[in-house]
Amino acid sequence: MTAQTDTQSKAETPTKKLYVKTYGCQMNVYDSERMTETLVGQGYEAVDKPDDADLVLLNTCHIREKAAEKVYSDLGRLRKLERQRGVPMQVGVAGCVAQAEGEEIVRRMPQVDLVVGPQAYHRLPEMLQALRAGKGAQVVTDFPVNDKFADLPQTRKSSGPTAFLSVQEGCDKFCAFCVVPYTRGGEYSRPATDLLTEAKRLVDSGAREITLLGQNVNAYHGAGPDGDWSLARLVREMAKIDDLARIRYTTSHPNDMTDDLIAAHGEIDRLMPFLHLPVQSGSDKVLKAMNRKHDADSYRRLIERIRAARPDIAMSGDFIVGFPGETDEDFEDTVRLIEDIRYSQAFSFKYSPRPGTPAAGAEQVPEEIKAERLLRVQDALAKSEAAFQQTCIGQTMPVLLDRPGKLDGQMMGRSPYLQNVHLMVAAERRGEIVPVKITEAHRSSLGGTLAA
Ligand code: 5AD
Ligand code: SF4
Repeated sequence: MTAQTDTQSKAETPTKKLYVKTYGCQMNVYDSERMTETLVGQGYEAVDKPDDADLVLLNTCHIREKAAEKVYSDLGRLRKLERQRGVPMQVGVAGCVAQAEGEEIVRRMPQVDLVVGPQAYHRLPEMLQALRAGKGAQVVTDFPVNDKFADLPQTRKSSGPTAFLSVQEGCDKFCAFCVVPYTRGGEYSRPATDLLTEAKRLVDSGAREITLLGQNVNAYHGAGPDGDWSLARLVREMAKIDDLARIRYTTSHPNDMTDDLIAAHGEIDRLMPFLHLPVQSGSDKVLKAMNRKHDADSYRRLIERIRAARPDIAMSGDFIVGFPGETDEDFEDTVRLIEDIRYSQAFSFKYSPRPGTPAAGAEQVPEEIKAERLLRVQDALAKSEAAFQQTCIGQTMPVLLDRPGKLDGQMMGRSPYLQNVHLMVAAERRGEIVPVKITEAHRSSLGGTLAA
């Protein structure tokens, strides 16, 4: 019966194929899902390669130069593909490069039909309509007056046991290196009641773990039924959703780690013992120049307090090397901080001057020094990460089975500390949380056996 209905509706409106490529952060992953959902409602079907797509959307990142440049090389590749196949393809640039460069993208790459900023993608249907009407390339990079999420379809389903949920966007902190306040705009928190509804829908469709997303997620202060809710309150309320076993949140700023949020880590079992809390540098002078508004010692003390609330919490961070003015001594302070904190994982980057940000015009650290420092930082982080992985051997931990492994009969799962864990277990158990005895520690995964 359904098959027949499908054939009929297809005959009336042939489905067009949509390919979305996501660059950058998890917020972009979330946005890509929402864009796909919007366009599926407009008669598109999502495909996983661009080869026979009618519409290709590149959901881009502007955080570092390399990320932004990748978009232009991918656009070149798409143009070649279009020529080879001889069938026209509509191409859209979404996300943070779209926001930062706007019209410039169409000037540089006239093949681009759509440019849509991260705050404007709810307008995709009308932009496509305008294209169909032959109105030429569409560029929309406005920040909406109302909540863009309110204009999106409220049908979102989880595509597996783990899901992202954007709760906050934008940033008012203006770190001197960062484009986010310009590409994503000022801080905005979604209403708590909408988030609880969306979370319940995700859980009803299979999510066991939800990661709350925001560029400054711990600054969350969305409207609740009884006044503004903090992130801690939101987490507490979400923890009451029956089948939601795990909650995480990312990315946080040290200055927004409030007492109630720290306490939540000690009190709410469903809040996972993992925290991504970037510090960027271990030098007070560099932190000041970065406009971080905290120093290295206050960060150390903060982590002590978090560890007092939840002793086994695994820490993650971000580091930038070669920020303008960073000397060898400043850099050594960063290495020392890494050794002190004992991160379970962390990301490190060479400073990349971004147009329009305060630090971009300053005198730059030479490229070869940046490269040398990056290697040193990565080495210090690798030692810290390996030590953390080793401490897991012999432990039995609850693992959320979320995807098939590489080998036959193998599944991959997530530990509470956000590690990948592989084990031999039946594929039907996807979505279950099972006890796993850890027997192997690798660089980016653990191996183990089912403990019960
Ligand atoms: N150059 C290098 N790294 C950057 N980040 C943000 N802006 C820059 C930049 N201009 C890094 C920070 C941030 C992470 C998401 O990206 O470490 O926490
Ligand atoms: Fe990249 Fe930042 Fe935009 Fe995420 S918000 S896609 S990290 S520029």
